[in-house]
This record gives sequence, C-alpha cells and structure tokens, in this order.
Amino acid sequence: MTGAKDNAVTALPPRLSIQKQHESIDARLEGFTLKVHSGASLADIVDAMRDLLVDMSMHFGYEESLMEVGRHGEFDHHRSQHLAMMTELGLLLDRLEAADEIGSALLRDIDFLYMLYQRHVEFSDSKLDAWLAANFAV
Ligand SMILES: [Fe+2]
Ligand SMILES: [Fe+2]
Repeated sequence: MTGAKDNAVTALPPRLSIQKQHESIDARLEGFTLKVHSGASLADIVDAMRDLLVDMSMHFGYEESLMEVGRHGEFDHHRSQHLAMMTELGLLLDRLEAADEIGSALLRDIDFLYMLYQRHVEFSDSKLDAWLAANFAV
C-alpha cells in the first residue's frame, strides 16, 4: 500500500500531491466505514485500520514537512491537530485489537474520528491549501 505509489504521489507538486493524498485517504476511510458498518470480521477491520493509520501518518508527515520548510504560521496548531488524531486513532486500534466484537461504543467513536478528520480537512487543510497556493508552485 505504501512505497512506489506514495513516492509517485509525493513527487507531484505539493498542492496536487496533498489533493491526491486526501482523495486516497477519503477512499480508504469510506471503505473502512463501509466495512465497519456492514458486519466485516474484526480481523478485516483491524487490518484496514492499520492501513489507514499508515496512510494518515505519512500524509500528516508530508503536510508537516511542507509547513516546516515554508515556516507556516499555524504549523504548531496544525501539527497538534494531527497528533491528536493519531493518538485517538492509535487508541482506537488498541481497543479494536482487544475487542471481541464491534459494539456501539466503538462504532460511535469510529464515526466521530471520521467526522473529526473531515472537519480538519475542511478547515485546517483548506487554510494550508491557500498558503501552499501563495508559497509553492502548483
Ligand atoms: Fe492537516
Ligand atoms: Fe490533510
């Protein structure tokens, strides 16, 4: 899932690369929530969650590297949102790995994290996109 594909994506200009990464994560998140809500096995869900964590970690790292290099004014704030999401995702993975079944509490928390990620893209990443447009060639 990583490797050649991600190298190809990060070889694109920054804004385009981030857009492609968001599309890829959106597709993976949709597939993940579909799995969760359609009664997939816990093992499948845990595998999908691990893949999601790797993709998101790489994506967040890429955004942070651009912000750090370009001295983005909201770097610390933006990174703290990434860290909070990765922490929550990690805790969720721990709970999934320890679970016997997907209960309502896990379903609710998965949906909440999905919403949190979408809000992050909608607000913080859109500000990042505007900053990239002003500071990097597209
Ligand atoms: Fe971000
Ligand atoms: Fe992002």
